[in-house]
Amino acid sequence: MPEPGYSRGQWKSNLGFILAASGSAIGLGNIVFFSANAYKFGGGAFYLPYFIALFAIGIPIMILEFGLGHHTGQAFPLALRRTVGKGGEFIGWFAIINATFICMYYITILSWVLGMLLGSFGGLWKESVAVPAFGLAAGDLPNPYAFFFNMLSSWWVLLLVLAVWIANIYIVRQGARTIESTVKVFVPLMWLFMLILLVRGLTLDNGPQGMLLLFTPNFEVMRDLDVWQGAFSQIFFTLSLGFGIMCAYSSYLPKKTDLTNNSLMTSFLNCGFEYIAGIAIFTILFATVLIPKASTLSMMFFIIPSGISEMPGGDPMVLIFGILFFILLLAAGLSSSISLVEAFSSALIDKFRANREKVLVWSFIVGTCGSLLFALPQVIDKGLADDGTLGFTLLDLVDHWAFSHGLLIVGLIECILLGWVYGVRKIRRTINEHSKYRLPAAYDWMIKLIIPLLIAGVLGFSIHSQIKDPAGLYGTAYSKNYTVDWSWVKFLPQIALWLWIGCAVGGSAILTFRRSKKVGPEE
Ligand code: TRP
Repeated sequence: MPEPGYSRGQWKSNLGFILAASGSAIGLGNIVFFSANAYKFGGGAFYLPYFIALFAIGIPIMILEFGLGHHTGQAFPLALRRTVGKGGEFIGWFAIINATFICMYYITILSWVLGMLLGSFGGLWKESVAVPAFGLAAGDLPNPYAFFFNMLSSWWVLLLVLAVWIANIYIVRQGARTIESTVKVFVPLMWLFMLILLVRGLTLDNGPQGMLLLFTPNFEVMRDLDVWQGAFSQIFFTLSLGFGIMCAYSSYLPKKTDLTNNSLMTSFLNCGFEYIAGIAIFTILFATVLIPKASTLSMMFFIIPSGISEMPGGDPMVLIFGILFFILLLAAGLSSSISLVEAFSSALIDKFRANREKVLVWSFIVGTCGSLLFALPQVIDKGLADDGTLGFTLLDLVDHWAFSHGLLIVGLIECILLGWVYGVRKIRRTINEHSKYRLPAAYDWMIKLIIPLLIAGVLGFSIHSQIKDPAGLYGTAYSKNYTVDWSWVKFLPQIALWLWIGCAVGGSAILTFRRSKKVGPEE
C-alpha cells in the first residue's frame, strides 16, 4: 500500500533509464583516469586485466545491482535489508558513505574543471603568469599549470565548489524526473564532443601512432598484482558499481523491464566511450609529443591542456578545443555525481520517509563542507615537476581507501550476502521473467564463488603488502612536502585512514540501528 506523501518516482521511458545509467557510468573515470591508468600500467598491459574484469566482474555485478533494485523497489540499504536483513543494511550504508567520500572529492575536481572552463574565456591559453602563493615568477610554469595553481590558492575555489554543488542539487530536485530531462541533453552532448576530439586526434600528423602506444601490450607488467587491483577498481568505479547507484536507479523501473539487456547496454556504452576517449587522448598527446606521466589529476589539468595548446590552427583552435574539452569533462562529471546525490537521498528518504527538500538541503551543506576540505591548498606538493603528481595529499589518501579498497570491499560482501544468504537464484528468476536473454544457472556460481574469490585475492594481496610495509598501510607513499608546516599535517595519512573508517563504519552503524519512523523495526 503506498503511503500518503511518499511516492517513489519512475523513469518515463527505458531510454531515459539507459541515458541516466550510462550518464552515471561515463564520467571523469572514462575520459582521464582510464588513459592515465593505461599509461601507468604500460598501455596494452592494462587491457587484458581490464577486459577480464569487465566480463568476469563488471557485467555480472551490474546485472546483480540492477536486479536488486528492481526486485525490491528500494534504494541500496533498504534493498539489502529486505533481502538479507540488518547486516545487509549495514553494508548498504557503508557503500553509500564510502561513495559519498568519493563524491565529495569528485565534486572538488569538478569545481576545478569549472574554473578551468571559465579561465578558458580569459587568460588560460595566453602567456604564462606568476604564481605568488608559491613564489613562482611569470614563465616558471607553462600556462595551464600557472593558471591552475593561482585558482587553487584563491578564494574563487569557494564559489566554484558552491556552484557545482548547487547544480547537483538542482538537477536531482525531483528525483528521476529532473535527472531524466538533464541526461537527455548531457549524454548526447558528451558523445558528440568526444567524437569531435577523436576525429581531431586521429587526423593529427603522427596521431595514429599514439594509438599503437595505447595498444602495445607489455606482458611483463601483468605479473604485477597491482595492475589487477588497478583494473578491478577501475571497473567498479567506471561502471558505478559498489556505490549503491545502480540499485537506486533501477528501483525506478517499471516491473516489465529487460534487465539483462539494460545491463549489457550500459556496460558497453560505458566501455565504448572509455576506449574512444583513450584513443583520442593518446593520439593528441602523441602528436603533440607529450608523454603523459602517471598521475590522473595532472593528466587532466596539465598534460592534456598542454597538448591542446600545441594543436595546429593557432589561437582560435586552441580556444575551441580547450573549451570543448572542459565542457565535456563538466557534462560527464555532473551526470555522474548527480547519481550519487540521488542514491544517498533516496536511501534516506526510503528509510526515514524524510522530506526530499530537507534531505537535499542537508546534503548540500555537508557535501559543500566536505568538498572544500578536499580543496584546501596547503597540501600541495611544490615538487610536482619531478614525478607529475600533485600531492593533494588528503584527496589522494582518501582516494586510496575509498576508491582502491572501499568499492572492492562492498562488491565482495554484496556478492557473498546476496549469493549465499538470500540466494541469487531468486534474483535471477525475476530478472529472467522479462529478459530476452535468459541468465543460465552458471550465473549463480559467478556471484557466489568466482567473483568473491577474484576480489578477495586482489584485496588480500593489497592489504597483506601494506601491513608488511606499514608506511604503505597509511598510504604515506603519497605524502609529499607540504606547503605549510602545521604540526598536524604530518599525521594526515593516519587522519585520512581513521576518518574513512570512523565515518563509514560508525555512520553505517548509526543509520542501520536508527528506527525508521513510520515503518517500524521489522517492515
Ligand atoms: N562512473 C563514474 C566515472 O567513471 C564515477 C562515478 C559515478 C562517480 N558516480 C559517481 C563519482 C558519483 C563520484 C560520485 O567517472
